Amino acid sequence: MTPDRTKAVRELLAFYAEAGVDAALGEQANDWLSADRALESEPALPDVSAAASPPPARRTSTDAPAVARPSAAPPPTPDAAVMAAREAARSAGSLDELRAILDRFEGCSLKASASRLVFADGNPQSRLMFVGEAPGAEEDKQGLPFVGRSGQLLERMLAAIGLERSQIYIANIVPWRPPGNRTPTPVETQICLPFIQRQIELANPEVLVTIGQPSTGALLGVQGITRNRGRWFAYQTGTREIRAMPMLHPAYLLRQPIAKRLAWRDMLAIKKALG
Ligand code: URA
Repeated sequence: MTPDRTKAVRELLAFYAEAGVDAALGEQANDWLSADRALESEPALPDVSAAASPPPARRTSTDAPAVARPSAAPPPTPDAAVMAAREAARSAGSLDELRAILDRFEGCSLKASASRLVFADGNPQSRLMFVGEAPGAEEDKQGLPFVGRSGQLLERMLAAIGLERSQIYIANIVPWRPPGNRTPTPVETQICLPFIQRQIELANPEVLVTIGQPSTGALLGVQGITRNRGRWFAYQTGTREIRAMPMLHPAYLLRQPIAKRLAWRDMLAIKKALG
């Protein structure tokens, strides 16, 4: 390759990375816009309701990677997707069922660009549940929430009050990684909300901690994380009322280490609430 061409390719890759396209899905580039492709007999988008779609075949290392495919069928409207999500979430009688239903759910477009579902980690029987925003790159790779830098800091914060990751239950509002780690859109959040609400109801913790503003806004309807962190709110799980507290997101604490003293206070409040 000539130096000019190398430079042009580097600049293009940098542009892609900034736009959130940071993982190669195959050896060959796909021209999704070509007329031939659009006319290919791709399967139509499955019904958005989880119950209606068959379980997906497991991907093996030799399969073609899962990529978003153009489809003749229009995507569901946001309202239809939210309705389908509510119905699907309601139908789950256990956390395992909820996970399986979510894995089959086709109503959220984030699923197409994520590598896998990131459902939860830790002990579902724990009295303490944390809910973050959405998986990042490392979480998307491992299929577990909070395993990247933020997760490592969260583990150190838990250790400071004598807790291990295996003693808490942790999940996210949105269980698929948004491309380039962007904030999930309000529509994506609304579509995923019934699932995390049902997950909280089924896990039935005594104390809920919402991590960062997106989780706090979605679950507690509270705006202003710096004002509201460390305060207790009532959260209705569907079967009972529990205590809920917003905390600063560890990603924010990594950028603003001075705020760690506030987070420390919040961790102590959580410890006290657990008795
Ligand atoms: N940030 C989140 O909100 N959730 C994760 O799982 C990881 C980072």
